[in-house]
Amino acid sequence: MKVLVIGSGGREHALAWKISQSPLLTELHAAPGSPAIATLATCHGVPVSDLDGLVDLARQAAIDLVVVGPENPLCDGLADRLNAAGIAVFGPSEKAARLEGSKAFAKDFYARHNVPTARYGTFSDAAEAKAFLDTMTPPYVLKADGLAAGKGVVIVESRSDAEEEIDAFLSGKFGEASQTLVIEEFMSGEEVSIFALCDGDTVMFCGAAQDHKRVGEGDTGLNTGGMGAYSPAPIATPELIEAAMQTIIEPVARGLAAEGTPFRGVLFAGLMVTPDGPKTVEFNIRFGDPECQVVMTRLAGDILPYLKACASGGLAELEPVNWSPDPAMTVVMAANGYPGSYQKGSVIGGVDDANAMQGVVVFEAGTARDEAGQRTASGGRVLNVTATGESLHYAADRAYAAIDLIDWPDGFCRRDIGWRALKTH
Ligand code: AMP
Ligand code: GLY
Repeated sequence: MKVLVIGSGGREHALAWKISQSPLLTELHAAPGSPAIATLATCHGVPVSDLDGLVDLARQAAIDLVVVGPENPLCDGLADRLNAAGIAVFGPSEKAARLEGSKAFAKDFYARHNVPTARYGTFSDAAEAKAFLDTMTPPYVLKADGLAAGKGVVIVESRSDAEEEIDAFLSGKFGEASQTLVIEEFMSGEEVSIFALCDGDTVMFCGAAQDHKRVGEGDTGLNTGGMGAYSPAPIATPELIEAAMQTIIEPVARGLAAEGTPFRGVLFAGLMVTPDGPKTVEFNIRFGDPECQVVMTRLAGDILPYLKACASGGLAELEPVNWSPDPAMTVVMAANGYPGSYQKGSVIGGVDDANAMQGVVVFEAGTARDEAGQRTASGGRVLNVTATGESLHYAADRAYAAIDLIDWPDGFCRRDIGWRALKTH
């Protein structure tokens, strides 16, 4: 099978790494890929925003399956275009992708299908939004309707801050994405990410993980794309997963199919575990980054039949996904300053030594190579140092031992990834 992976981050490096182990694979391509992905695949310099270029590439390379990593090209209709060209694609149609692309759409959709989530209102008028605050108790949760690279959510304690934020959102704090905003009830509890494969009809559990969204230790500071993750997450007990599949994920998949927009790809349910059971924080329409890195590390056996079945049907004929019993942890190394402004171009040493450790893989989220062939930082989140072990403690010790081999004075990581699980297990 000839496979094309779309994207260039740590998530796509992990997907390419897992796909490259498949006995069914004949050729692996990536667009645009990265220097790290280029060790596994032929990279083509087509950016993810160039939908015509991607379709042409898939046609010319006679690709059998396109695996799309990030949400933006899916929300822009890449899967529809590939399907129209007769090319199988792991990733949903533009219409099904609205589940992530529009929070207002998603919230109305959950209401139509009785999917448990926080009470909400949707507004494009500041006075109406402020009046709605009368019906809410603090803290106030405000969300940009559209895609904002994981940064479009603000949680504030005071009414005056909430009113200020409403004005800021509607006057373009997140550009077009915040012309409409959702205000919702605050849910307290622990968060968990659950993944499920879907071929438009059948839904299959594909791993649970816990991310760490805040930049600072002890879950403090600004929200980021994610500073580290581990799987399995002890909070995702078999009972919780069962409840989430039955009350949230299957109703979402059935609802999308019933509305004529069947979902093909991976559903990523961001859930809050509340005293009343799991509730939906958000759905994404692709693997989480960095959650994918730990899910791929633990997934035993060949992934390609599953990805292909999501694209072309037949998931019901496959066995449930098989998992390694060993937990996995990934720790993100980011450039100093992230998620604010940061420098690019600093040299990173020691990654090969870290990779040589048993049970360690360093997925590269934002690296380039300089003229001397040395790794340099080219993004905010730069490395995903990933380790497995017989226990989560062991995986964490290995991941941090690997990090200690990495020589990058211009980068940092959180030293407490996994703290919730490590405290109790
Ligand atoms: P989202 O982009 O919707 O996942 O939101 C980003 C983060 O904001 C989530 O991971 C939660 O930590 C937090 N969050 C979002 N909505 C709520 C809510 N209704 N109650 C509490 N926390 C929330
Ligand atoms: N790690 C969270 C996300 O990918 O949205």
